[in-house]
Amino acid sequence: MQSHQPPSFSQADGVTRKLMRLFLFPFLVIILTTSPCTALNEEGLALLEFRKSIISDPFEALASWNSANETPCTWFGVICDSEGNVNRILLQGKGLSGTISSSLSRLNRLRALVLSNNSFSGSIPPEISLITTLWKLNISENALSGPIPDELGALGSLRMFDVSGNFLSGPIPATFFRICSRLRFVDFSRNNHTGSVPARLGSCDRLEGIDLSHNRLQGSIPEELGNLKVLGFLSLASNALSGSLPQSLGSCVSLTLLDLSMNMLSGQIPSTFTNLRNLSRFSAGQNLLSGIIPAEVLYHSALQTLNLSFNALSGSLPTSVAGPTALKVLDLSANHLTGSISTSVLSLERLQFLNLSNNQFSGPLPSQLTKLISIESFDLSSNNFTGQIPPEIGRLRNLSVLRLGSNPTLSGVIPSDMCETSDLTVLDLQKMDLQGGIPSSLTGCRSLLNLDLSHNKINGSIPIFLTNATRMKSLNLEGNLLSGSIPESLGNLSDLEHLDLSINMLTGGIPSALGDIKTLLFLNLSYNSLSGPIPRNGALQQFNASSFLGNAGLCGAPLGVSCSAVIATRSSQRKKSHVLGASAIAAIVTTAVIALGVVVIFVMNFRALKRIAEDRVYESTPPSPEASPILGKLVLFSKTLPAKYEDWEAGSKALLDKDSVIGSGTLGTVFKTTFDTGISMAVKKLETLGRIKNSEEFEEEIGRLANVKHPNIVTMQGYFWSPTMQLLLSDYIPNGSLYNHLHQQDAGFGQLSWKRRFEIALGTAHGLTYLHHDCTPQILHFDLKSSNILLDHNFVPYLSDYGLSKFSPMLDTYVTSRRFYSTLGYVAPEVACQSFRLSDKCDVYSFGVVLLELATGRHPVENSDSNCILLCDAVRSALERGRGYSCIDPQLGSAPQSEIMQVLKLGLVCTSQMPSKRPSMAEVMQVLESIKSGNDL
Ligand SMILES: *[C@@H]1O[C@H](CO)[C@@H](O)[C@H](O)[C@H]1NC(C)=O
Ligand SMILES: *[C@@H]1O[C@H](CO)[C@@H](O)[C@H](O)[C@H]1NC(C)=O
Ligand SMILES: *[C@@H]1O[C@H](CO)[C@@H](O)[C@H](O)[C@H]1NC(C)=O
Ligand SMILES: *[C@@H]1O[C@H](CO)[C@@H](O)[C@H](O)[C@H]1NC(C)=O
Repeated sequence: MQSHQPPSFSQADGVTRKLMRLFLFPFLVIILTTSPCTALNEEGLALLEFRKSIISDPFEALASWNSANETPCTWFGVICDSEGNVNRILLQGKGLSGTISSSLSRLNRLRALVLSNNSFSGSIPPEISLITTLWKLNISENALSGPIPDELGALGSLRMFDVSGNFLSGPIPATFFRICSRLRFVDFSRNNHTGSVPARLGSCDRLEGIDLSHNRLQGSIPEELGNLKVLGFLSLASNALSGSLPQSLGSCVSLTLLDLSMNMLSGQIPSTFTNLRNLSRFSAGQNLLSGIIPAEVLYHSALQTLNLSFNALSGSLPTSVAGPTALKVLDLSANHLTGSISTSVLSLERLQFLNLSNNQFSGPLPSQLTKLISIESFDLSSNNFTGQIPPEIGRLRNLSVLRLGSNPTLSGVIPSDMCETSDLTVLDLQKMDLQGGIPSSLTGCRSLLNLDLSHNKINGSIPIFLTNATRMKSLNLEGNLLSGSIPESLGNLSDLEHLDLSINMLTGGIPSALGDIKTLLFLNLSYNSLSGPIPRNGALQQFNASSFLGNAGLCGAPLGVSCSAVIATRSSQRKKSHVLGASAIAAIVTTAVIALGVVVIFVMNFRALKRIAEDRVYESTPPSPEASPILGKLVLFSKTLPAKYEDWEAGSKALLDKDSVIGSGTLGTVFKTTFDTGISMAVKKLETLGRIKNSEEFEEEIGRLANVKHPNIVTMQGYFWSPTMQLLLSDYIPNGSLYNHLHQQDAGFGQLSWKRRFEIALGTAHGLTYLHHDCTPQILHFDLKSSNILLDHNFVPYLSDYGLSKFSPMLDTYVTSRRFYSTLGYVAPEVACQSFRLSDKCDVYSFGVVLLELATGRHPVENSDSNCILLCDAVRSALERGRGYSCIDPQLGSAPQSEIMQVLKLGLVCTSQMPSKRPSMAEVMQVLESIKSGNDL
């Protein structure tokens, strides 16, 4: 660049250089365009002037427009005739902006001017009318404004005129059609034209196409249009035309497309329209048309598309079809049509799109619907159809959209072979009378984008297979009787935008996987029995309380209920019984349903829940967790418990009573409650330190224990889950624990003879062997100790608190916390020192400690001054020093010492440091049995 500059410039300072350029540039242009030396002809000069008013040419389309040429005939977009005159200018879609220069009027042989799809603005220069040779003027899809110049009426040669897609205003001038004998096609569409449809149009009798759509034209459709015998295309859509459809239009016998939709046209469809033998598309939707649809119009042999939707048409569908029909699209939605789906419709074999929605059709859906073999979209929604969904509907191979919703008397179940042959994208069965579950037949509906089953009586759970439709955008199951939990796999629906599960009976937690749905715009989980914390990850952050209303078990930021606050309140001793009382209140609202096997009582009456939630909505401050009842789910494993809520009311009152506390273990406080029927039960309130994340995890863990049945194991009767409280219900064993009898004789517990102690050891071993060897998967007790061995009046032992390792506190807490001090002596060393692998050998260790306890009557851990001594260590060292007998409980004075010594030694083997050195419970059983039979001999 530098080298091309004259030396004088390079010496000038920057400012001078800029000024020089500024003045020099226009000067050069003027020299070029007026240079007497140029050979460019007059038409070329006119085009350069046209270029001058173009302010932007982003693709340099006009780069070849060189003033050095003699003629413009080689320029891009310019085509000359044989005599060298500019004949056509074709500059469509070149991104040009600026105004259209009147200089074009100097091109007096121009036949075609095409400037469509650019960004020309300003008005149409009236001088264009001077180009009397013009055949074709297409300046559509620009940004032109102002009126259509009257002068254009002088363009007597014009065949094709297209100004569509601009901002032109004012009327379509009648003068435009003054000389129009050659006019074939006019398009004024998509502008802001006002005024009326000029009647003069009717005199342009060569017109083949008229498009005046999408303007603001008023008045009626002129009768004169009926003169247009060769008119094939007429669109007056989306204006403000009124009055009735002129009879005369029936004379436009060449019409193939007639679009009068989106106006205010009234009256009936003229019977003359039956003369329109070539009509293939007729749309008069969104008008005020009334009366009946003439059969001849509907079943016209050439008609492929008929749209009369959103009118006031009445009557029923014609019953018969005269001959073969070509009808592919039939939209009669939103009228006042009555009657049933006539056989005439069923004979429309080519029909692809049928919309009869929003009418007053009635009667059953004929099973012959399967005759509509080409149907792709089928909309009968919002009518009064009766009966059931014909199962055959699933056999329509091409069906993609099926809408039968809002037919309140259409009942039955979702057909079982849906999507077997077709590939549904939209299934709308909302607001019907559907019952039963969501059938597995929907598994195959992998292309579903929109599934709406809302407001029915659909029950069962939300099937996981719904998530096979991976492209689903909208899933609406609102207002049904769905139960169970929200499948985590819903998080796989990565395109989902709308998810409404509100007003059902769903339980459990909200899966945080929902946060993975980045596209989610709408979420409503209100009015279910969901519980636990509301996850706030990913897409879930955006939703406020209105998405979670009426789930009293939920906590978290959107509801203003702090989850941690609830736990904190609970851990305070004083409020314990109060909170428990709240659960009793919850139990009072029980609706009980008894079934065989597992009996599930939802502790929520739906109406009560809704009421509570509504109350909440109107509260200005978030309700304190204590004030609101704790609502949750109560599951009973057997039928022996009362199932009427009155009984629960009485029984749960006992829980309010401090005296009903019968124990306090590693995992929580145990209460006793007695029902009016006389049945007593132990209720353990779990202190889980928040380790249980959701009800699924809880239920999965507890569910495994439901089937544990053994004469030496406390039977689990059920559980209550709410995010803030978990209760375990089990048989009440009346005679205290082994711990009470061994160590708390001061408190009135009687002595245990060796015979009883041995039977207790044997029974305990039976129970533990059952858990280890007869349960699949194996159940580990994990918390075996004398206080968890309960005794009945015959001193038969029952293992309690088994299989709850998941709920026990984290191990570090376990080892350090004083609270678990009592457990310490029972814990196998590999657990205590955190080389942590739970195995049945941990239980064997604990069992060994219990054996030592039974034989010595001593505590498993004894404090002497500052160091604590493990019982097994004490016994082991005594035995090694040959003083084993001194370990035997002095209370067992007359008992056979050799037998006690055998048990003592078994206890030591069981408490071996290395887990591999400990026997299995099956082996322990064999040893105990042999000790017993030795005794019997
Ligand atoms: C649904 O998806 C599951 C897992 O993705 C698959 O095993 C199953 O075959 C699918 N069902 C159908 C009918 O495609
Ligand atoms: C769906 O989600 C579940 C659980 O979130 C996951 O295990 C599974 O792999 C997912 N399936 C697909 C096909 O992504
Ligand atoms: C909560 O969200 C809904 C829709 O997402 C919105 O209409 C409503 O205004 C929001 N309410 C508040 C209190 O922000
Ligand atoms: C969710 O549904 C309930 C019940 O119909 C309604 O009160 C609430 O406004 C809905 N929330 C949203 C976000 O639409």
